[in-house]
Amino acid sequence: MNRFEPNLRIPGPTSLPDAVREAGARQMVNHRGPEFATLQNGIIERLKKFYKTDHDVLIVTAAGTGGLESAIVSFLSPGDKILAITIGAFGDRFAKIATVYGADVTKLSFDWGMAADPAKVRAALTAGGPWKAVLMTQNETSTAVTNPIEGLAKVVKEVAPEALLIVDAISGLGAVPFETDGWKLDVVVSGSQKAWMVAPGLCFVSVSPRAWEAAAVAKMPKFYFDLAAHKTSAESGQTPWTPAVAVMFQLDVALNLMEQEGLEEIWRRHAAVGAAVRAGLTTLGFKLLADPEFASNTVTGAWIPEDLDWKAFNGKLRKLGLIVAGGQGNLKGKIFRIGHLGHVTVPNILNAMAVLEQTLIELGRPVTPGASVGAAQVAALKSLGLVK
Ligand SMILES: Cc1ncc(COP(=O)(O)O)c(C=O)c1O
Repeated sequence: MNRFEPNLRIPGPTSLPDAVREAGARQMVNHRGPEFATLQNGIIERLKKFYKTDHDVLIVTAAGTGGLESAIVSFLSPGDKILAITIGAFGDRFAKIATVYGADVTKLSFDWGMAADPAKVRAALTAGGPWKAVLMTQNETSTAVTNPIEGLAKVVKEVAPEALLIVDAISGLGAVPFETDGWKLDVVVSGSQKAWMVAPGLCFVSVSPRAWEAAAVAKMPKFYFDLAAHKTSAESGQTPWTPAVAVMFQLDVALNLMEQEGLEEIWRRHAAVGAAVRAGLTTLGFKLLADPEFASNTVTGAWIPEDLDWKAFNGKLRKLGLIVAGGQGNLKGKIFRIGHLGHVTVPNILNAMAVLEQTLIELGRPVTPGASVGAAQVAALKSLGLVK
């Protein structure tokens, strides 16, 4: 970010490192030729490290929703019993995709702002079944909550070991701790425009051997999103359809940057920016939406006070170069969200707090100058272990 660029604080697409932007301008290559095969094979090997999986990871040219759709149609059949655990708009969307394709979906919904409760998941699984699959959202971007996937997955393994575990990790994987194989997750979807610091256009789907067994008998209609076709093509270094080659060039560079930083350092940085945003917003007087125990380190949601004119407020933020996101679904007009994933540093957050502070002061609200910036900095330093 420089002074001519806005501070793009939405939960994806995220801003891009310069080297990633430049990579997107490269000349095209033959997507059926050896350069592309080398590019894709190299990307897949590095994605596996970030996914923490030894199994397949496939690249699909689509928005994240396409990745979710591929996960439904490739492994399931109409009439399959599915438990869809939802804690917000994206969990609802995942359940809807399965419903549209004719699955027998039981929705287990939790209040927005809360994580899924493993005891209630256990009860729901016990009450029904046998289950073909359980759908979960790792990081619910609409409510800024991160689910305890490890614990939820354990419950599913105990109560419904027959079920495939299918996880939407679109806005969290690559930013916060995650273990695909360690947590025995069968299918995990992520998207290029989130933690991966790349333009929108690609999604990634990991597939366990158990999921491939399910794919062999899956009867949902499919064509573009058939992951078995993607696997066959990937074996010869290709994709079934023309891929978003420019985004692949970007991803190649972004993965190098991520490898240089290191997975644990990336997680540490996201923990610090998450803590900084929460402390700064609270100091400004905003009430946060998420249950603090499960607050996301990639996005934060705050209630818009009833006496704050959101349009005027947001217009002023934009003029000062801060772009934030609004609410989704039930929360439209009620909350705003600050994205802090991918290419983000603590100083980016301090800038955001300074702009929020100035705007609130302009609107005549009782804010102590410097307080939120200071609180955000202290929270980040504490999170990094640099001060007590
Ligand atoms: C958790 C989650 N799931 C699904 C999606 C949908 O991704 P896309 O908008 O790329 O289709 C998003 C996008 O924000 C998301 O955050």
